Amino acid sequence: MRGGVIAIDGPSASGKSSTARAVAESLGFAHLDSGSLYRGVTLVALREAARQGQTTGNPLAAVDPETILRAAEDRGLMLQPDGAGFTAYLEGEPVGSAIRGAEVTANVSAVSAVPVVREWINSRLRALVRAGRDVVVDGRDIGTVVFPDADLKIFLTATPEARAGRRISQRGKRVDPERLEAETAALAARDHADSTRPVAPLRRPEDAIALDTTSMGFSEQVRFIIELARPIFGNA
Ligand code: DC
Repeated sequence: MRGGVIAIDGPSASGKSSTARAVAESLGFAHLDSGSLYRGVTLVALREAARQGQTTGNPLAAVDPETILRAAEDRGLMLQPDGAGFTAYLEGEPVGSAIRGAEVTANVSAVSAVPVVREWINSRLRALVRAGRDVVVDGRDIGTVVFPDADLKIFLTATPEARAGRRISQRGKRVDPERLEAETAALAARDHADSTRPVAPLRRPEDAIALDTTSMGFSEQVRFIIELARPIFGNA
């Protein structure tokens, strides 16, 4: 018996994580942010590369994936229940903002394109669901690869400009044309890398409900998903 699964996939900055967390809270489910594990593995990879003397650039140039995953296990990279969901821990501490920094963000696409990294992360996500928790999982391949039998699949989209504008505002900056252009280009590059990789590329699952949030407010998109979930999970 596994727990209930709502899969939310979509491109960078489409609001997946914040939406997934709000939906989970409202339904009493746990939020599982698969991207936090990809970011956690990337942080471990950067630290291992630095130990080898490579302090910038793609860590895979200095360390092979097996060594990275061994280090991730040795250093206790894992998702721990935090009440509302799961938080990534490394060396006994929540990873916090360390996984949201520019260096991790610049290298996470390369690390997440490695098949053994994906298998390592997928087996951890599946084990948490096998343990029986009802979850809202967000990522890029949740409805296609990790939980193809999810009870409800959502594919969140928004135009690159809308996503870029939200990301700039989240950083507390003014959305001026120069920033918007730079952020839109950075997001387009990550979208391209995530959608064209050979393993588990970002794509809409055929049985997913697509939700374009370009002109939707946050609470509206959360409500939309909750309304879809209620008949599936009964009195959830
Ligand atoms: O959602 P996020 O921005 O935190 O994800 C970080 C990176 O991890 C993103 O570039 C793609 C990768 N990722 C992935 O390949 N598959 C997932 N299920 C989740 C994230």
